[in-house]
Amino acid sequence: MSTIYNDDILFFDGINVLDFALINQTPFYLYSEKIITDNFLDYQNSFGDNAHLICYSVKANSNLSVLSLLAKLGSGFDIVSGGELSRVIMAGGDPKKTVFSGVGKTEEEIRFALASNIMCFNVESYDELMTINAIALEEKVIASISIRINPEIDVNTHPYITTGMKDNKFGIEQSDILEIYTMASKLNGIKITGIDCHIGSQITDLKPFEESVSKIISIINLLKNNNIQLNHIDIGGGLGISYNNEESPNKSEFISRIIDLLKPLATTILIEPGRSIVGEAGILVSKVVNTKSTPSKKFIIVDAGMSDLLRPPLYNAFHAIKEVFHNNESKFLCDVVGPICETADFLGKDRTLSLSKGDYIAIECVGAYGFTLSSNYNTRLKPAEYIINKDTKSIREIRKRDTIDQILDNEIEYL
Ligand SMILES: Cc1ncc(COP(=O)(O)O)c(C=O)c1O
Repeated sequence: MSTIYNDDILFFDGINVLDFALINQTPFYLYSEKIITDNFLDYQNSFGDNAHLICYSVKANSNLSVLSLLAKLGSGFDIVSGGELSRVIMAGGDPKKTVFSGVGKTEEEIRFALASNIMCFNVESYDELMTINAIALEEKVIASISIRINPEIDVNTHPYITTGMKDNKFGIEQSDILEIYTMASKLNGIKITGIDCHIGSQITDLKPFEESVSKIISIINLLKNNNIQLNHIDIGGGLGISYNNEESPNKSEFISRIIDLLKPLATTILIEPGRSIVGEAGILVSKVVNTKSTPSKKFIIVDAGMSDLLRPPLYNAFHAIKEVFHNNESKFLCDVVGPICETADFLGKDRTLSLSKGDYIAIECVGAYGFTLSSNYNTRLKPAEYIINKDTKSIREIRKRDTIDQILDNEIEYL
């Protein structure tokens, strides 16, 4: 866990969370540059001198300051929209180190990506391949592509975050792979550069990754026998983190197992980690607005809700909740809920805490899929984001809290 108590006060990356909460409007996200950097370098160093590129998955946390930090560390990027590509470019990221995934890239997005000279498109269907080819020919450029395979691997994670199983919408079935690569090799607007897969997220067992890499290896051999050569193998993201003291896989062990399998092929290895770089690097700080007891339950109602952190209602995800000031009063069983008019608006159920009105809580491990899944539901203002500098430990605001004017600005002709 990324927080510790010191004299009953919660600290995150050396910062006294109580002091910071007392002078800033809650709820807010607070990130640690140090944790992000350490996680990135952990991957980077694990590769040693094996040719590789880490393409950080922008969807996990797309704040420009986070992207800029990673770009400066040498990261590439995995994007799934034109908007994410704009962020990468604005943050100083290199489009030539950027791969474009996703099943529904629009023509406009494909044109933008081609004009930006991205590294490659991870193609998810035959239709998409033909569209990219047609646009590339029109624009008189060659589009580099890799085909995303669906390795049909059962992973032990929430069904909503599996992506490589038989019934998922992602990737191309193994039985169709040779046909689509053969087709791609004949298209004048296409250059085949790699193969890609991504089997899901929050995977804490290394076996499914090894299984999918083994399947990729057999496909590469099949392609070789048909005179189709690849420059890179992209094994996607998905490595899990510890949300509830469960054992999380070690990044260097993960990478060394992948290298062992892929070394004989002597190609560049790409990975697309998101959660395992930024997940532990963020907390969400919130204030208790009210407490409430019913005959069967005690509720702690805080000023953050599902509009700020959707993971608990969306995936029934567990996030540790800590009192920012650890008082010595007796603890009780409670549900920590938000102010939103949905029964699903909870942050944690059946937690043992001691909290009363005006106290602060910190919700842990929210650096990934926290702010990026936030919304303005109930016309709530998205929270501010702050980051702790890794050298000076000073904190800077990296996204202002929304204002009501910003939210209403796009609505027109209403009177
Ligand atoms: C194609 C692709 N790559 C990478 C990722 C990042 O996954 P994670 O954050 O689990 O590492 C995702 C997330 O689902 C994804 O869809």
